[in-house]
Amino acid sequence: MSIFSKKNAEIEKKRIEYELAEFGYSKFIIKESNITTIQIAKNIGTPYYHEKIQTIEEITPSIKSKLRTNTYSGNFGLDAFPFHTDLAHWQTPPHYILLCCIQPAKDVKTLLIDFKELLSTEDESTLSRALFRPRKSINHQASLLRLSENRKIRWDSLFLQPVSTSGKDLLSRITEKINISAKKEIALSSDKECLVIDNWRLAHGRTAIPKNCLNRKLERVYLSSVQGVHDV
Ligand SMILES: [Fe+2]
Repeated sequence: MSIFSKKNAEIEKKRIEYELAEFGYSKFIIKESNITTIQIAKNIGTPYYHEKIQTIEEITPSIKSKLRTNTYSGNFGLDAFPFHTDLAHWQTPPHYILLCCIQPAKDVKTLLIDFKELLSTEDESTLSRALFRPRKSINHQASLLRLSENRKIRWDSLFLQPVSTSGKDLLSRITEKINISAKKEIALSSDKECLVIDNWRLAHGRTAIPKNCLNRKLERVYLSSVQGVHDV
């Protein structure tokens, strides 16, 4: 099964590939109503499977909770989410994030920033010296992480903390740069509208959830690769 019409499949495939390479994200819409999110994921790439995460995660607004301080919703509730990359505390976070709209909410925007470009003004030695660690150790191991390594970037001011002076300095410089940098605002405003984000290049955030958007629902699948459109 193909998620695009036969006539458009090649064009859509090329467009998604081009936009991901050029801008780090691509938006597309599926016209067929009975296509599932996992079918969409398999059509455009390879879903990322890991025992610690659900392959398909439902994303809905929820209020702050002291019981879920390990999540963005638990910490920020309906407020705006700060910029971050997903699973930044993992040694190798998933490469792509696919978001598919199930229940649109036009007043809520996904915000994107080219974090790789933002880091490009830092010199290599600074990025190498500035070490961070996850706020909570993983398997009781304190792994040290860099914001840019092997052409992958990571950023999470909530769950990553600097362990050195150079890390603290870098954190405050980056925070300032984020405030003044250009951001893209993306609204998924119709059913089966999808956004794929390069999680090794862009950081993302979310605007606050107004009262008229409490029924917003997205489904998220991480992808280890995007290979263009192919049959499921
Ligand atoms: Fe996220």
